[in-house]
Amino acid sequence: MYREPLLGKTSDLVSTYITSISADREIANEVILTLIEHVFELYRTGVINKETFCKIYRALVELSTDITKILSSPEAQKYEDVHELIEKILIDKLGQDVAGWIGLGRSRNDHVVTAHKLRLRAKLVELLDELLTFRKTLVERASEYSETPFIVYTHAQPAQVTTFGHYLLSVDECVSLHIELLMKVLEDVVNKSPLGAGPGAGTIAPIDREREAKDLGFSNIVKSTIFAVDTRSYFTLTCSIIANLLVELTRFANDLMLYSHPNIDYVRIPDEHCATSSIMPHKRNPVTLEIFRARTGQVVGNLVSMFTILHSIGKGYYLDLQEVTPCAWQIIDIAITSIRVLNDLVSKILINVDKVLEDARKFPVTSAESAEKLALDKGVSFREAYRYLADHFKRGIFVHLLDPEEVIKLRKVRGSGAPEEVRRRIAEAKEEIDKQQERLANIKATIVTSVESLLKRCEEVCLEA
Ligand code: ARG
Repeated sequence: MYREPLLGKTSDLVSTYITSISADREIANEVILTLIEHVFELYRTGVINKETFCKIYRALVELSTDITKILSSPEAQKYEDVHELIEKILIDKLGQDVAGWIGLGRSRNDHVVTAHKLRLRAKLVELLDELLTFRKTLVERASEYSETPFIVYTHAQPAQVTTFGHYLLSVDECVSLHIELLMKVLEDVVNKSPLGAGPGAGTIAPIDREREAKDLGFSNIVKSTIFAVDTRSYFTLTCSIIANLLVELTRFANDLMLYSHPNIDYVRIPDEHCATSSIMPHKRNPVTLEIFRARTGQVVGNLVSMFTILHSIGKGYYLDLQEVTPCAWQIIDIAITSIRVLNDLVSKILINVDKVLEDARKFPVTSAESAEKLALDKGVSFREAYRYLADHFKRGIFVHLLDPEEVIKLRKVRGSGAPEEVRRRIAEAKEEIDKQQERLANIKATIVTSVESLLKRCEEVCLEA
């Protein structure tokens, strides 16, 4: 429709190559909501009359129930995107003299970013919910294992003895940090409105961008109309944080695979998270952790794709930008399901304490503290004590070694694995979780109430029209 007056029709070859119709299914309802707000603003500023507004509003509401189906039809593939398709549907239904007004003061450039941000906001809320559930599981399990000995590794070799609760709290702190970062990006980047920015330099239509932002539950506007539409930082910042978190959690997954290996056997992966072999009836393969790791690989790949597309273009709109979008949705969807699965696994893992203690006595995993103790109590320099112990270990003589369970209790430093310190940190983590949950609930409430109120006000205007 857009191209015809100037360029005429194109071939199916070209149109199916450049269209974003399939990918647009993700944002179809948000595009409609953005259009509702846009025409409401045109009505409030007196650009269109009540009758025109209400005809368009009603048609948009009606369209929202079948837009996903329409987008899947072969006919839809001929359109460049959901924006063009919706405009065509409205014009066919209401005529150019009515529906022809929606193009005023609006560009696909500002509308697509608005729709992205509305959708991203909802998905981020969903992801943050999953992450908070995961934190609760980690903290619960840490409290169960606050006194349970565990051996942590460096270089994949037995290193030091601590508690399993301590180990789990290290994962929790990492998740908490990423929750904070995602909330910051949600509030400061994603939840700023680009609506009304037009193709980039703005529009002469009398649009109140601040009022539009408020209606859609955005905290504010993106100040520059250019920056409002030319960036995809709301995607790349969000996805960078997610990729970082998933890489960190994949290292945890790798640890769980190592610790559950039959030769080590400290951790039991729940049966439902394992698969077996078609020929070797003894196999317990940790398949959800393997898929977790592979999907994280896809996330990193998608992030690299996004940056690679973006770094080649200038600041204005290029159709290259369209190809960034599916990468972002895939990253977020992987994150949501991967976190959900990992949470389920962690809620069911078991520790084999006997094997941990057997190894803690077999390998001199208290060597560091034993050397420290010699230095602190006997006044021998640490390096002398270290050399003395190493010299004996070399000959298979395990002298002056402290008992593993004793060592766990001796560590008094903040953030260590001593049961009392683990318990103190658990209490602290629970308070943090409550605060993060409250912050998220407030964000959710603003989103829901603002959109509800917008639709209610539109309904009221159109009640007697
Ligand atoms: N389909 C496009 C996208 O997803 C929408 C914006 C198109 N804008 C344009 N000037 N061609 O990015």
